[in-house]
Amino acid sequence: MSASQVFIFDTTLRDGEQVPGCKLNTGEKVELALKLEELGVDIIEAGFPISSPGDFESVEQIAKVIKNAVVCGLSRAVQKDIEVAGQALKYAKRPRIHTGIGTSDSHIVSKFNSNREDILARAIQCVKWARNYTDNVEFYAEDAGRTDNDYLARVIEAVIKAGATTVNIPDTTGYCLPYQYAEKIAYLVNNVPNIDKAIISCHCHNDLGVATANSIAGVIAGARQIECTINGLGERAGNTSLEEVSMIIKQHKDLNFYTNIQSKLLNPMSRLVAETMRMPVQPNKAIVGGNAFSHSSGIHQDGFLKDAGTYETINPEDVGAEESKIILTARSGRSALAHRFQKLGFTFTRNDIDVLYQDFLKVADEKKEVKEEDLNLLAHHYKEYNKGISEMVL
Ligand code: KIV
Ligand code: ZN
Repeated sequence: MSASQVFIFDTTLRDGEQVPGCKLNTGEKVELALKLEELGVDIIEAGFPISSPGDFESVEQIAKVIKNAVVCGLSRAVQKDIEVAGQALKYAKRPRIHTGIGTSDSHIVSKFNSNREDILARAIQCVKWARNYTDNVEFYAEDAGRTDNDYLARVIEAVIKAGATTVNIPDTTGYCLPYQYAEKIAYLVNNVPNIDKAIISCHCHNDLGVATANSIAGVIAGARQIECTINGLGERAGNTSLEEVSMIIKQHKDLNFYTNIQSKLLNPMSRLVAETMRMPVQPNKAIVGGNAFSHSSGIHQDGFLKDAGTYETINPEDVGAEESKIILTARSGRSALAHRFQKLGFTFTRNDIDVLYQDFLKVADEKKEVKEEDLNLLAHHYKEYNKGISEMVL
């Protein structure tokens, strides 16, 4: 059976930009949108046009320059929002309006002071309004993660009937566990009679650290679009990370999915977003963190130096990262030390390394990391000392 495509919907410029301190101006947004297109993103959520004149302008400018990707604008289930989103997307070659409303009882009661029937009617209405501007309409059932499945299925059936072509099932609060989120998607696949007329989308937040796992579980259960951000940026603890889901799909051929993401561009894209949004990436972040391809414990280093595959399942080159690093700390072993000396142009025998290793450990216990300059000193001292000994013997 041929592999199925999973569409990548990037929301770095919308959900990602909501992060305090990450606000972008129009020029920065346009630059990132062009790079996202180059990366292979299928749908770019460019912003929330009614939220500010600046964001309207950003969406409009992005719509003008993007050639292949779908450009999407967010709106609430409010006629004016949808009208403004439609205007901002006027120049897009492939516009999409993303509209929706909260469907959990918590949202229905506490946020809208309403009831399920009224929310159902508003959901249908917003999709119909959006269809006046484009036939590419995505509906989001906000807080779907905590929405009763039976009611969610009714809403989804109704919005597809009203013209939604993608149905977004957000785990807005990042509450679901992977098996629960998968069950929710499977429930919709099995209980919404017209589900074959729309693509199901996963939009997962990372409050419990399982956004990536939930998105993959959702796709296995039948979803075919993942909403994600570069570096996992997004509200609170963030969204599903684009680099993680795209690499899971690439590495796990057993899943039988593919995406259009050009994986070699992942690290350059991550760095560009981190710099432009002034939001550094944590060193232990999968795929794009500074330590993602660093080995520092002796056991790992020894295995890695014999065969990289013992401790790495991703080739750093495949994700545009620098070559793997052997970091020297007090937990490192002799093979790593010999390897680093060799890289500096020193060749030592096994016996030399045994002696040098004791000196190395003294330095390593003092420092967090033993650097090139420390190795040079160790090697020179050792050579000087040995020269002295051989001169004495002669
Ligand atoms: O998390 C969420 O529910 C959202 C929607 C607006 C799609 O970001
Ligand atoms: Zn969100």
